[in-house]
Amino acid sequence: MKFFLDTADVSEIRAMADIGLVDGVTTNPTLVARSGRKFVEVVREICDLVRGPVSAEVTATDFDTMMREAEVLRRISPNVAVKVPLTADGLKACRAITGDGGMVNVTLVFSAAQAILAAKAGATFVSPFVGRLDDLSHDGMALIDDIATIFANYPAIQTEILAASIRSPLHVVDAARMGAHVATMPAKVMEQMISHPLTRSGLETFLSDWAKTGQSILEG
Ligand code: G3P
Repeated sequence: MKFFLDTADVSEIRAMADIGLVDGVTTNPTLVARSGRKFVEVVREICDLVRGPVSAEVTATDFDTMMREAEVLRRISPNVAVKVPLTADGLKACRAITGDGGMVNVTLVFSAAQAILAAKAGATFVSPFVGRLDDLSHDGMALIDDIATIFANYPAIQTEILAASIRSPLHVVDAARMGAHVATMPAKVMEQMISHPLTRSGLETFLSDWAKTGQSILEG
């Protein structure tokens, strides 16, 4: 499973990329607004840090302007994946951009029907929003499962399932269990995945026992 960071905070991306855990990045207009920075500059910096796909979302809602915005975003770097909303114009833009060799992430996906359309439009990634469905007492992970089952019926589908709106390590584990290709998550969730109280206490015990030996590995 690939791990993407869902943030427009360059320092967070730098820290996680340094560990080697970041396969890509997703941003959205809300995350960019939160960063308080200029969108194109932020995307450029992220593309310098991360080799994998960096999703940058169009903000137009009509096909023609979406395409013009996509052109600006694709010029930033070849690893930009243009993010378009699951609307009729978004699907049309998806078809046009992927037909031209670009990557597209179709976002704001809340049903299997929408995911099928994104795949049909040739999307590189389809982004079902797990957490936002859970917020409404719908089972977000059931949607991932559904999409994975449907896509498996059609081996020709190249579209990757990108589990989005991930809120906890358990979401990541469940998405992996369902066969999602990618999970995009806030840096906090990646940190939560790393840490475990038994790892911490176990390490403390090992280190205090080691100290009693008076040895140093570096001294041979
Ligand atoms: O990847 C989409 C994500 O940014 C939405 O997350 O937590 O705002 O639902 P959230």
